[in-house]
Amino acid sequence: MKSILEYETVDYDRENHALVIIDQTKLPNDIVLLSLTAAQDIWDAIYLLKVRGAPAIGVAAAFGLAALAHRITAQDKAAFLEELAEKKEFLNSARPTAVNLSWALKRMMDVCHKNPEAPVAVLKGLLLEEAFLMKQEDIAVCRKIGEYGLDVLKDGDGILTHCNAGQLATCKYGTATASIYIGQERGYHFRVYADETRPLLQGARLTAFELYSAGIDVTLLCDNMSASLMQQGLIQAVLVGCDRVAANGDTANKIGTSVVAAVAHYYKVPFYVCAPTSTIDFHTPTGKEIVIEQRDAAEVSEMWYQKPMTVKGVRIYNPAFDVTDHSLITGFITERGIVKSPVDLRNC
Ligand code: MRU
Repeated sequence: MKSILEYETVDYDRENHALVIIDQTKLPNDIVLLSLTAAQDIWDAIYLLKVRGAPAIGVAAAFGLAALAHRITAQDKAAFLEELAEKKEFLNSARPTAVNLSWALKRMMDVCHKNPEAPVAVLKGLLLEEAFLMKQEDIAVCRKIGEYGLDVLKDGDGILTHCNAGQLATCKYGTATASIYIGQERGYHFRVYADETRPLLQGARLTAFELYSAGIDVTLLCDNMSASLMQQGLIQAVLVGCDRVAANGDTANKIGTSVVAAVAHYYKVPFYVCAPTSTIDFHTPTGKEIVIEQRDAAEVSEMWYQKPMTVKGVRIYNPAFDVTDHSLITGFITERGIVKSPVDLRNC
């Protein structure tokens, strides 16, 4: 079995000017690479979670916009920018909660604003280089998060994680898994516990798969089993990712994260949010203002089952994310250090 670390979650094919992703909906059974060049296909890939995880969505959108820019035929600068802005808005509408999507697309548009004299052909090249830069930065950021995370972990620790904030959610290493991979490089042995993460099973399909492929000691559990592990003293830290952190530290992450945080608080297990600073949104004061994506009911009632698993017509609640109150969060592990609150980053 090839380690996940040998794959690229998100890439760009320079020859064919295409966004290239691993289709995460096919994992763990098949590793299928998709090459995308059309706006609708890129939008669908993000909406349908073929590429997912906040940082990976951001970089995929950036490469996607570069591929779309390449195909804009207008030579007139104003017409080019107008079409590019439309495409950017379209991609931005794919998922509302992960701030990295709008952050990355805005950064791409800023390339145009910062180079007002550049002709269309030059801009296309600059856009692509910006997307590659974002990818390199994401890799470096994840590695840093991993290094800082090791400061609060020790060899032999049991680590619980929820959803997938792993290599598959970023360009390399992941955020919540970075310390695990870097720890492995240094000879640490962690026991990792992965919540299956209903309803889309990112924990079972992605986290368990990627850690197992990399030779990490990983155990899969259902979402309602973490209290049992904490009760037995088997978990020394919870590490999760995030899709948007509000200025006061309230954190949106995969549905179920706040349940884990509350249980960890009860059992006095430290609960860390691994947060690239690109996921911190100082324009959103508290978690109450974070828009939570609501998804198709069929994800709960039909997906993964041979027959519908509930009665036809029953009302279904399916938010993709929940908000963990900042009071339940021990700290944010960022690429600039570990802080108690996002505002403390001003001193790092
Ligand atoms: O709906 P998903 O699979 O995109 O949700 C992903 C998560 O909630 C991750 O924890 C988050 O994006 C952080 S990824 C480093």
